[in-house]
Amino acid sequence: MTERKTPLDTERREQENAHNKHRKKESGFTGQIGFVMAAAGSAVGVGNLWRFPYLAAKDGGGLFIVIYLILALTFGFTLLTSDIAVGRRTGKNSINAYAAMNPKWKFLGIITFLVPAIIMTYYAVIGGWISRYVVVYLIGDGSAAASDSYFTGFITDPLQAVMFAVIFMLITAFVVFNGVEKGIEKCSSILMPVMLVMIVAIAIFALTLKSTDAEGVTRTGLQGLAVYLTPNLEGITFGRLMQILLDAMSQIFFSLSVSMGIMITYGSYIKKDVNINTSVHQIEFFDSGVALLAGMMIIPSIFVFEGIEGMKAGPSLMFVSLPKVFDSMHVLGRVVGLAFFLMAAFAALTSCVSVLETITANCMEIFHLERKKATIILTVFYTAASVVVALGYSLFYIELPLPNGSVAQILDLMDYISNSFMMPFISFLSSILIGWVIGPDWIVEEVEYGGKKFGLKGLYRFMIRYIVPVMMFILFLESTGLLGG
Ligand code: PFF
Repeated sequence: MTERKTPLDTERREQENAHNKHRKKESGFTGQIGFVMAAAGSAVGVGNLWRFPYLAAKDGGGLFIVIYLILALTFGFTLLTSDIAVGRRTGKNSINAYAAMNPKWKFLGIITFLVPAIIMTYYAVIGGWISRYVVVYLIGDGSAAASDSYFTGFITDPLQAVMFAVIFMLITAFVVFNGVEKGIEKCSSILMPVMLVMIVAIAIFALTLKSTDAEGVTRTGLQGLAVYLTPNLEGITFGRLMQILLDAMSQIFFSLSVSMGIMITYGSYIKKDVNINTSVHQIEFFDSGVALLAGMMIIPSIFVFEGIEGMKAGPSLMFVSLPKVFDSMHVLGRVVGLAFFLMAAFAALTSCVSVLETITANCMEIFHLERKKATIILTVFYTAASVVVALGYSLFYIELPLPNGSVAQILDLMDYISNSFMMPFISFLSSILIGWVIGPDWIVEEVEYGGKKFGLKGLYRFMIRYIVPVMMFILFLESTGLLGG
């Protein structure tokens, strides 16, 4: 394969390629499919299954969906392309990748590294909650799970919460311990297709549901689908539209796992013949597709059994409202409940793996550690951290007011710092670095490497220079409460 001649520093480029060649021998994805599965595995997680549906229910159904899709195709595309291209071009993880782009910007690599380092303290705890529900449906305890206090009872029980978090953490560590190809790629390539089949099946099933309530009103799954998809413009104001826009934007970050170094690390594992442009479209398609399907499965089910009111449950939709729905389905509910939480556990596992992998890869690079040793050390550390976070609803219970007006326990605090505070900040600074310091062509070149087509490069350049910095700055102000939102 020949390299296109460009006005950029060719000597530096040769050095990068030499580094990449060396690196690929150590570890890497086998090809585009393996990479897309792993990246989609990272992207598809609790964000798609739990957060997207409740935001859609809260933010006007179809209106939120349309805004989300437009933003995914513009912002999501820009941020994902940047991360993957930075990873492949430098062949490094976030800390060193930013230093390679411009030595003065190493600080941004360090801040980026801190995001997965913080997320890892609580992601296994959420994975533990999901695993707990898998066990509940497995042993046929679904009716107990449908009671209002079940979820709170479980997370406030120190032993239970810790046990499931630790189990989830150890499974994650096992995958990372086995490396990029034999651990991560293999795990995602098996679990992702299974997960997709399960979610499609449950979503279709949800549309066939029908129930008559005590007042004799019959509601169907298809009516629920209409509620989900129809844009609700009632009482819409500029402020409200802005709020929906910002909700959709922060969801895109979290959902695509961008601006946290994960896609930089995964990008550093791909070969030069992989087409970044088509990979980005495939990952986005997978991620948005699962989010839409999750809504199609959850919203109609809730609508059928609990009506419009039920959809206002917010964050408790998945752990409190859904078990009620499964309970209303009687015997069938046990099977569907098990399938749902198993699928959610797969989605959470592939995401959790990507977080631990990113931290491990950075530590291997910085401390010159070998994978197995790095994984063991980090597993000990994060198991301890997960225990503390899991105990944040019992022994270490706190009530901390956040600048955005909500009250946080330890888990919410970690989530707030990493997602609401750091991610927009990182995207803002990265867009300045790429758009204005090194220039968008540094990325465009990598995407076009080997004569590949980058049809939307005009859009990319425009977004990264003008739109992303402005919007990220607004998002940052909003989520820190500085905008009064
Ligand atoms: N993208 C994942 C989701 O939508 O659930 C969540 C996620 C994965 C967030 C990895 C953060 C992360 F580091």
